[in-house]
Amino acid sequence: MVFTTPRISFDSLMHGLPMKAQNEIHQALDNVGTMLSIQNPKVAAAMAPSAIRGLVLKENKGADHVDLKANHSAYYTLNYQGDFTEMYELYRRAVSHQWDGDADLPWGTQVTPDNPNTPILPRKFIPFEVPEKYGMKLNKKEEQQLTWDVAAWLLSQFMHGEQGALYAAAQVTECVQWMDGKLYGATQVMDEGRHLEVFLRYLDTKMEKIYTVNDNLFVIIDDLMTDGRWDIKFLGMQIMIEGLALGAFTTMYQQTREPLVKQLLKYVIQDEARHVHYGVLALREHITKNVSEAERREREDWAFEVALLMRNRFKLREIYDEWFSHKIPLKTWDAEILQAPSMLSFRSTMFQRLVPNLEYIGLMSDRIKEHYDKAGLTRYLGGLNATQLTEDDLTAEDTADDEMPDELREIAQNM
Ligand SMILES: [Fe+2]
Ligand SMILES: [Fe+2]
Repeated sequence: MVFTTPRISFDSLMHGLPMKAQNEIHQALDNVGTMLSIQNPKVAAAMAPSAIRGLVLKENKGADHVDLKANHSAYYTLNYQGDFTEMYELYRRAVSHQWDGDADLPWGTQVTPDNPNTPILPRKFIPFEVPEKYGMKLNKKEEQQLTWDVAAWLLSQFMHGEQGALYAAAQVTECVQWMDGKLYGATQVMDEGRHLEVFLRYLDTKMEKIYTVNDNLFVIIDDLMTDGRWDIKFLGMQIMIEGLALGAFTTMYQQTREPLVKQLLKYVIQDEARHVHYGVLALREHITKNVSEAERREREDWAFEVALLMRNRFKLREIYDEWFSHKIPLKTWDAEILQAPSMLSFRSTMFQRLVPNLEYIGLMSDRIKEHYDKAGLTRYLGGLNATQLTEDDLTAEDTADDEMPDELREIAQNM
């Protein structure tokens, strides 16, 4: 007689558990998955301490601050020579384009969730279809509140990113070898301080709501704060996070009808365009002239893995916890949210900015292109890089209609 053990699938086992337990298991596996999804062992090893602090120990939650131990040398110049004309021109432009976060924005504007003429985000941007699939029909007031919360979540993540950008800009200003880069860097420190000021003021006084820093954003910020190599900080902050930020800012700028946040985002985008421009100038010079082939490959791998982390890891989890954790399994939410049209549109804008910049700075060899191709991202090759885009290009109004463009449908099928 042969005894056979009944085969029980993992999903059916999970199904028998209460929602809270299912979600805890999914979250734990998903955190492990973050690290396992990093294919390159060197990159995974380098990011492991940050991932442990962010995903396992949750150092980004529950306390009033966290210490990130920086480890880099300041490059103290002794010759004071002007050494990079294009950087010096960016510095002059930054000095003449400074704005005042208090005086130049219409802070007297009334911002409310229920004014139909000035929605902070349009209805199409909010993934209402996800709860609807699970029988949750939100009434008008709830829809307005969810829209408000998603906007507050986005703006909170912008603010947390700006705090990281402030410290990264300060660190990079110390580290770079170009005198003109140090001058330029000082203006960026001021810019990032002002961005932190205006996002905080908007969240605090207009939205009256601030969400904690997203775990995955924290892991990336922690990783580049604590890495001693200035060009990794540069690559992480000026190209990857600023690229992400530019994509996100542009998406929200085009979608919002709330005049105060629109003006605020326009000013911030104009500053960020200079930051990414500076980043690509510095890194192209460094990567094409100063690093060995092995070091270049390492940076190329790092950028690819971080790009995928950024693509796959922003899932409005804090919104889920607040609104849907009792009704929709977390695993289902994660899968659905990545396919939501607004998230696809946001990621498309982000990679449209990022991929041409990586190409321009020398981190897109044929070897790595194969990986980008498998990830469905080579469609963005040959696009305009940061040195070719003007501030006006970046703040152009959205002309797209309400339908999901074919390009996004295609991306959705590939992801
Ligand atoms: Fe910024
Ligand atoms: Fe910036």
